[in-house]
Amino acid sequence: MTGDLPTRHVVVMGVSGAGKTTVARGVAALTGMTFAEADEFHSAANVTRMRAGVPLDDEARWPWLRALADWMAARHREGVSTVLACSALRRSYRDLLREGPPRVDFVHLDGPTEVIRERMSLRAGHYMPASLLDSQTATLEPLWPQEQGLVLDLQLPSDVLAAAAVDRLGLPVLGTPTPAAQPQP
Ligand SMILES: Nc1ncnc2c1ncn2[C@@H]1O[C@H](COP(=O)(O)OP(=O)(O)O)[C@@H](O)[C@H]1O
Ligand SMILES: [Mg+2]
Repeated sequence: MTGDLPTRHVVVMGVSGAGKTTVARGVAALTGMTFAEADEFHSAANVTRMRAGVPLDDEARWPWLRALADWMAARHREGVSTVLACSALRRSYRDLLREGPPRVDFVHLDGPTEVIRERMSLRAGHYMPASLLDSQTATLEPLWPQEQGLVLDLQLPSDVLAAAAVDRLGLPVLGTPTPAAQPQP
C-alpha cells in the first residue's frame, strides 16, 4: 500500500550561507531520510539568472517550488521520508511546499547577517554572489506562529544543529527500531 505510510518531510530553510545544505545533510545522515538540494531543481534559465547576480522574482520561483512540492509528494507515495535544503524565504513559498506531502516541518537556521557574510566570503565556486545576501535578508519572512517548525541559531556547530533538529522534531534515528520493525509477540 502506498500513500498511507508514515513519512516525515523536513525543509531546512534560511538565507544563502546559513548552513542549510550542511545541516540537511547532517539530518539525512542521522535519520536515513533522503536528502535533496533545492538549488538543483532550478531551470537552466533560473541558474543563468542567479549566476548573473539577478534575484529571482516570484514568477521564476513558482515552477521551482511546485517541482519541490511534487518531489516530496512523490517520495511520500513511496513511503520515503525526505530532508530538503531550501531557502523557503517567504510564507507563500512555504505554503506551496506544504501542498506536496501531508506534513512538512521547517527548520529555520537564523542568525546575524555578519556571520553569514563571513561564511559567504570564504566559499568559492558557488553561483550565488554574496551581493544577493542583502536581498535574501530583505525577503526573509520568519516562520509564523502557526507554521509547523522551529528556529535554530546558525552559530551553533552544524552537528549540534542537525542533532537538535532530529531531537526537537522527533525524527526517527537510524538504528532505532520502529514499531513496524519490532518482533511480534
Ligand atoms: N553551523 C555552522 N558553523 C560554521 N560553519 C558552517 C556551519 N554550517 C555551515 N557552515 C559553512 O558555511 C558555509 C555555507 O554553508 P552551506 O551549508 O553551504 O549553507 P547554505 O546551504 O545555507 O547556503 C559552508 O562553507 C559550510 O561549511
Ligand atoms: Mg546550500
